[in-house]
Amino acid sequence: MTSTSELIFFVNGKKCDVSFPSYLCSSLILPFVLFSLLPFLSFFQVVERNADPEEVLLSFLRRKVGLTGTKYGCGGGGCGACTVMVSRYDRNQERVVHYTVNACLQPIVTLHSAAVVTVEGVGSTITKLHPVQERIAKAHGSQCGFCTPGMVMSMYTLLRNKPQPTMEDIREALGGNLCRCTGYRPIIDGFKTFCGSEPSSGCCQNGGGGGKCCTNGSKMNDSEERDISQELFSLDDVLPLDPSQDLIFPPELMIMEKKLIGDALYFQGERVNLVAPFELSHLLELKAKHPAAPLIVGYTTIGPKMLLKGVHHPLVIYAGRISELSAVTWGKNGVTVGAACSLSMLKEEVERALAEMEEEKTRGYRALLQTLRCLAGKQIRNMATIGGNLLSANPKYDLSGVLAALDCTLHVISKDGMRNVPLNEKLFTDFGKTALRPDEVLLSVDIPSTKPWEFVAAYRQAQRREFAFSFVNAGMKVAIREGSDIVESLNIYYGGVGSTLVKPGKTCQELVGRSWGEDLLSKACRFLKDDVDVSPTIHGGKAEYRKTLAISFFFKFYMQVVLEMRGRDVSDVDLPLEYLSALKPFENEVPQGHQSFQLVSKAQPSADPVGRPSMHQSAFQQATGEAKYYDDLPPVQGELFIVMVTSTRAHAKIINIEASAALKMPGVVTFISAGDVPGTNCRLWFNNPEELFAEEEVLCVGQIIGAVVAESREQARRAAEKVQVTYQDLQPVFFTIEDAIKHESYFEPKRKVERGDVDEALKNAEHILEDELYMGGQEHFYMETQGLIAVPRGENEEMDLYVATQHGAFTQELVGMALGIDSNKITCHVKRLGGGFGGKVMKIASLSAITAVAAHKTGRAVRCCLERGDDMLITGGRHPFLGKYKVGYNDDGTVVAADITYYSNGGCTLDESAFIMDKAILHMDNGYKIPNLRGHGVVCKTYLPSYTAFRGFGGPQGLTVIESVLHEVAVRCGLPPEQVRDINMYREEECYTHYKQPFCPTDMVRCWDECLEKADYRDRLRAVRLFNSSNRWKKRGIAAVPQKFGVGFSKGFYNQGAALVNIYKDGSVLVTHGGTEMGQGINTKVIQIASRVLEVPMSSVFIKETSTGNVPNAAPSAASFGTDAVGMAVKDACEKLMRRLQPLMERNPQNTWKQWVNEAFFQKISLSATGFFMGPPTDVDWEKGEGHAYYYFTYGACCSEVEIDCLTGDHKNIRTDIVMDVGKSINPALDIGQVEGGFVQGVGLYTIEELQFSMDGVLMTRGPSQYKVPALSDVPAQLNVHLLANTENPHAIYLSKGIGEPPVFFGSTVFFAIKAAIAAARRERGLGETFPLSSPATAERIRMACQDQFTQMASSPTDGTSPPWCIDV
Ligand SMILES: Cc1cc2nc3c(=O)[nH]c(=O)nc-3n(C[C@H](O)[C@H](O)[C@H](O)COP(=O)(O)OP(=O)(O)OC[C@H]3O[C@@H](n4cnc5c(N)ncnc54)[C@H](O)[C@@H]3O)c2cc1C
Ligand code: FES
Ligand code: FES
Repeated sequence: MTSTSELIFFVNGKKCDVSFPSYLCSSLILPFVLFSLLPFLSFFQVVERNADPEEVLLSFLRRKVGLTGTKYGCGGGGCGACTVMVSRYDRNQERVVHYTVNACLQPIVTLHSAAVVTVEGVGSTITKLHPVQERIAKAHGSQCGFCTPGMVMSMYTLLRNKPQPTMEDIREALGGNLCRCTGYRPIIDGFKTFCGSEPSSGCCQNGGGGGKCCTNGSKMNDSEERDISQELFSLDDVLPLDPSQDLIFPPELMIMEKKLIGDALYFQGERVNLVAPFELSHLLELKAKHPAAPLIVGYTTIGPKMLLKGVHHPLVIYAGRISELSAVTWGKNGVTVGAACSLSMLKEEVERALAEMEEEKTRGYRALLQTLRCLAGKQIRNMATIGGNLLSANPKYDLSGVLAALDCTLHVISKDGMRNVPLNEKLFTDFGKTALRPDEVLLSVDIPSTKPWEFVAAYRQAQRREFAFSFVNAGMKVAIREGSDIVESLNIYYGGVGSTLVKPGKTCQELVGRSWGEDLLSKACRFLKDDVDVSPTIHGGKAEYRKTLAISFFFKFYMQVVLEMRGRDVSDVDLPLEYLSALKPFENEVPQGHQSFQLVSKAQPSADPVGRPSMHQSAFQQATGEAKYYDDLPPVQGELFIVMVTSTRAHAKIINIEASAALKMPGVVTFISAGDVPGTNCRLWFNNPEELFAEEEVLCVGQIIGAVVAESREQARRAAEKVQVTYQDLQPVFFTIEDAIKHESYFEPKRKVERGDVDEALKNAEHILEDELYMGGQEHFYMETQGLIAVPRGENEEMDLYVATQHGAFTQELVGMALGIDSNKITCHVKRLGGGFGGKVMKIASLSAITAVAAHKTGRAVRCCLERGDDMLITGGRHPFLGKYKVGYNDDGTVVAADITYYSNGGCTLDESAFIMDKAILHMDNGYKIPNLRGHGVVCKTYLPSYTAFRGFGGPQGLTVIESVLHEVAVRCGLPPEQVRDINMYREEECYTHYKQPFCPTDMVRCWDECLEKADYRDRLRAVRLFNSSNRWKKRGIAAVPQKFGVGFSKGFYNQGAALVNIYKDGSVLVTHGGTEMGQGINTKVIQIASRVLEVPMSSVFIKETSTGNVPNAAPSAASFGTDAVGMAVKDACEKLMRRLQPLMERNPQNTWKQWVNEAFFQKISLSATGFFMGPPTDVDWEKGEGHAYYYFTYGACCSEVEIDCLTGDHKNIRTDIVMDVGKSINPALDIGQVEGGFVQGVGLYTIEELQFSMDGVLMTRGPSQYKVPALSDVPAQLNVHLLANTENPHAIYLSKGIGEPPVFFGSTVFFAIKAAIAAARRERGLGETFPLSSPATAERIRMACQDQFTQMASSPTDGTSPPWCIDV
């Protein structure tokens, strides 16, 4: 164990010794070129002689090999962006196995003798696309593209294992991959084509259908109208799946593995050493000698701790090579599973057992399978092991409870011998601690099969049904005396109700000997109430909910066992039929749906692409990993890395900043803070200054105080932790809207808009309703975190920034101010963004200025790439809102007056909060002609990170409050909500908003009527009522809303666009415009527009990047206005060029485009033109509260149906129908993509995305493990989107409409449907149907609103001494 071993593995089947020394430290342009050529090399075998145990595959691929297709999204296994395929020769199975892993958690040293395939190894645009890449692209499943390589790898690996997968296989394969843009449906549509043997045949549910749905209900079949299409893509010319295209497993590795001799591998890193023994005896020796060294296998628990939380272990022992630890042996009484078996292997074994064994023996395995199905995502299950899951001793983990209930036994081994340890609550001594000795190793776990009269169940409830840690999980087993209903023994185990696994001992003991009946149930609940003591300070909070879940789970178990016993005629307990649905967990389905849009007129030339569903122009590059994002750019020579030092106090004076310890750390070049800013240490936005670096005082946790610049990111990160800041706390400190109101802490200006005479109308109304609605904030969670590379050019103080910004001009301006340099020397280059959603407008400008200061100071290029946790902490998100309202209404549901005050939590600086509040109150009327309407808008100043723009920009909050008003009025009037919406709706040809902007609501009403019709709303409402009357513990709800959404900036001067179009002598066209491509497809639409005007194919038009050097002073790509603005500008430029070319074309009509262009050149006609679009002068006179705020309105309507589980708070999105008016769509595929993606983001906003702040103002939900954005399982099982036909918008490019933002609000239909379902549950229990429900409607809120005997048992009046875990800010 003295010298470092040689690490050998393959990447993409190519051979190359990456330990060659020079390229990494000098010009990194070379390796980039070298490795971008790798697909042409014959082998790429990694022979790493100095492999560092701390190096994970993701950074190795991206930084050492230059394969940047594999993306960083979170670094903790929580997003799937880094998915790659690992193949190994399995000596036990004597075959090669392929499985996906998260490269961000896979140490390279554990890959010895494995072959890795990344997205680059699957196919390329240069050689040949793989069908997986082609189909995800053609099916419009790639928007920003940042998740796409991960999706491709998950699907590719599935196909390697199963060339004709089922839909369930696809669902499982993609369960660990998040996408923030598409809403998943198009990804599934592309991939399901692999299910059938023929891509274009068969039922769409099984993968056929060619992108069309064949299960459309009668009202759905719009295609009967001949100009309506349901075909967004065609599979006619797609590549067939051809296994010969796949890289073969390198024979060398197979030989190597077969010949393996028992040598241990030893890797010595800078800080960590790793030993990977081959023999069990060696492992035990090592453990005896180094008991403190953790034994790792999957690295999915230890990894995140070491990589993200700074936990340091100088020595780790890798046990993945010990064959005894991976053995699975079936015996008479069950199975013995090696501790190093992955959870996927375990799942496969259990599935096999279910197929082969008698039913009664498999009850325990069935429960285990149910748990394994929802546990993490596929990649984690492939890496994580059963031993690691148990011995992590984390009560959130799911296996301990169910395996303890099954009376499993652990075989534990050490140098001293073997012993058996029962798996029960005594094994877990504290959080993260077990009763095993440090020198002991878990060898295997015995999982016994069940006996004839044993009944087992496992339960879990999480924030999101799949790919989320459970709040509470449980395993339960009862043994009933044969032929009777008497309990012989009972095991109940809970995880998530304490710091370790909990067995409610009294409950289990006292119920033995009793009949399994109602008396037992009531006793059990009473005992559980005492036995399960959830501390109010439990990590993660939700104490009452957890306790409620614990009791509710037992109730489910009780019913399940009754059902079993009634089947055996040993129980006469009455179990009403309407209770039974409680026993069925929600199935995760693959989203299906259909989309329709109007075809272009037959008269339109076939070469004219406008109006046709064209694929995103970079989709192939995104699917092959060739698309470059800022952090994919190869390092510039001498490049440094910057990491921010942020405040840990919410409101404090900075007494001292001590960076000397950090400066002594290896690789550290400098520390910068306010004093290093040569220009202005401030970001100025509409006269509102915000410091770049806090100088004297901090105003929130997460505020940037300084930054460490070092040779590598790891060095910068470690050093940043060493910077000591001394604070003196200041008062006041508060975080919530309510507290800001108490302190009268507001930003100016406050806004007011009023129509009619609200006070008078309130006096005369038949009824008055006073209430409020709280809506929590939202994290952007763009898959690509914020960052940039600042490159000083070393001449004239020039600086280039390669930056992920939605607003290059603002970034440029700010960098100039910070450096004290003119803007003309600073160029921002924006190739593309991995999602923006409004979050990459403001903070990225500050980050750019800070990074530029570092580059300026050091004279070297500096890269900034925020880690996910820092991004969430620093950059802010959607504003929380509180809407307080007083409403006058009549018995028929007419709302005669509404007085609404909107409070938003703006955080510590104004940022865009005032404009966002403007948008909220300008949208408060939505589609309703409430004659007397008053809105006040107040932005609260608190000590939280500043909130900022987010898709919808206050619109969703403004709209949701008024929809809540309509909903509550309907409930109080006892009328169907859609009827109340109907009678209050704007209907006349010419209407006026509450701020007196004229508009015509006809298309909104058409959307509303069509939506209700296509959704079969009325029939389904009846069906929902019927369902509710026959189901006690599951309830359904259905809700629909219309929408009127203003497009464009209410600050009129922003409504402008500019472009530059160059034609080259070969006829090719280069377009540059001021918009930024962030997945919305602006470049694709622009190319369509240029193609139409110039009459050249789309393939002749290219957009390289957005550059402030080419198009100056551009407005941000926001407000759903990007294509409107730059589309017009591009059209203008192209038309200018065509006017110049026209005489040549007329003179020689027979010539080709290229000939005309050449002719123009020789005639000295300029082939370059700028285009400009001056939008109309929108503005609001806030003194009068009136104006022309928006350019025009986008309309739509949405209807959603949900089902809730009243016992757990879980919900399932059953179906959503959307009808959207996008005018004459420029590209229906992209527009439908925006509708679906926006809607699913809205589903997250209104249901599962919950940000938690501590009492000290610290954001605790700082990564995908804590913060849940919608995954595949959250998309409605049926999601139908129709673009309204026969509509055009004279105000925008080619009669289209902007669509980026409006669909987010449609997520509220799910919220209102949930509220209706809860009301149905409450009605049945004789409770009031009016009840508070804040957004998001999380599982906790749903469950606790469905009050019943179990919630009562769990309620514990707080004594006021224990602070809540988190606060609603
Ligand atoms: C993104 C993500 C999502 C997840 N979601 C879930 C979820 O929903 N439900 C759930 O239950 N879990 C979940 N997990 C946790 C995951 O299941 C565990 O991390 C995994 O099972 C641990 O196994 P491992 O092999 O990776 O352990 P490692 O990280 O390698 O080790 C974990 C611990 O176990 C010890 N250990 C491991 N094997 C042995 C052995 N044979 N003998 C002695 N000690 C041993 C190690 O020393 C270490 O202390 C998730 C993890 C991630 C990263
Ligand atoms: S980056 Fe690896 S899972 Fe997110
Ligand atoms: S396309 Fe999936 S995250 Fe953007």
